[in-house]
Amino acid sequence: MTSTFLMLQAAAAAAQAPAVQSVDAQAAAAQAAAAQATQVATAATQAAPATDAAAATVQAAAELLPKASTFASSIDDSFVLILWFAVFLSIVVAGCFVLLVMRPGPGGAGATSRSLFRWSAVGAFALVAVFFVQGARVWADMQVIPRGALPIRVALEEKGFTFTYPNGYVSNELHLPIDRPVKFSFLGASEPYTFSIPAFRTQVAVPVGVRAGGIAKDAWVQPILAGEYEARSTTPSLRPRAELVATATVHPEGGYEKWYQDISGPPLDLPPVELGQRSYQMRGCTQCHTIDGAKLVGPTFKGFATREHKLKDGSVVEPTDAYIAESINDPQAKIVEGFEPVMPSFKGRLHELEVAGLAAYIKSLQ
Ligand code: HEC
Repeated sequence: MTSTFLMLQAAAAAAQAPAVQSVDAQAAAAQAAAAQATQVATAATQAAPATDAAAATVQAAAELLPKASTFASSIDDSFVLILWFAVFLSIVVAGCFVLLVMRPGPGGAGATSRSLFRWSAVGAFALVAVFFVQGARVWADMQVIPRGALPIRVALEEKGFTFTYPNGYVSNELHLPIDRPVKFSFLGASEPYTFSIPAFRTQVAVPVGVRAGGIAKDAWVQPILAGEYEARSTTPSLRPRAELVATATVHPEGGYEKWYQDISGPPLDLPPVELGQRSYQMRGCTQCHTIDGAKLVGPTFKGFATREHKLKDGSVVEPTDAYIAESINDPQAKIVEGFEPVMPSFKGRLHELEVAGLAAYIKSLQ
């Protein structure tokens, strides 16, 4: 685009020259304009390979950064389209320039530069038009959030992002389905922030929240490539949040549904014991804990409420709800005698009601 700009400048300079009245001066001016024109034309021809190099770099960058959303392709395509159109225009204008300078038309140098100026202006206008139309198309597409898009709420907090899924599950990681539109609702913070996922070519500027918990901005995206990508954020008061990064996982076909079912767990409105029983089966407790007295990796839950719970350090704990909750959320805090500290933590994965349900269920086992 630099070359087009150079052309325009030269054309403008040349167009001013014929305003001089005297014949001698006019001839001199025409000569000067011609000299300038040749200079600029050379500059333009030199600029063209540079533009080519730029195009190559852009394409290489686009190859490196995956096109992971529907916008990625349209934005990259627009960019490449505009770039090539600019390159094409530069070459055409440079060509005409050289031709006209070498063989001025019947009107002399003045007419030549005027027509050159006119055509450069037409070219520039066409470039702006292409830029505008293509840009407007992509922009319009981004504004209209498709119906049925999966809603995810995004909030910026002290420690980073939190993503809230339709079932109320909150995570620091972004999990997305493939080939399905997702609607992000950004909660306003005390200062404006940006949220971007470069692989999606998505960048959202979220204004300051009007009221606490208010949605400050909506945006949507449709992932088309499974994988793990980076989501970044910047805020004006750069530190300590300079580069907040979160992982955005696009699950392959069916993977999101599986993940969602896993985090959803049993329906929370079940009676506690029933909820606990479902949870015991769904959350994989069965891998390590039986209810029939058999010993697996972990102790059995049979007779939990009436049995003695001796720990590795020799102390004895009461089988209370609090102890069960602690065992689930922080399994390493108290290790049962005769067992290894291999139980994974379920902290943040289970709803409070689910933990309470598990406690009720475990204590109910005779
Ligand atoms: C990978 C195996 C494993 C899984 C899965 C597992 N646990 Fe455990 N759990 C253990 C082991 C081993 C112990 C004993 C060592 C300890 O106290 O950490 C234990 C201890 C416990 C205790 C204390 C037992 C006692 O007798 O005092 C509770 C309660 C418990 N687990 C609940 C659960 C629940 C609920 C789940 C499912 C949400 C679960 N565990 C999943 C391995 C597991």
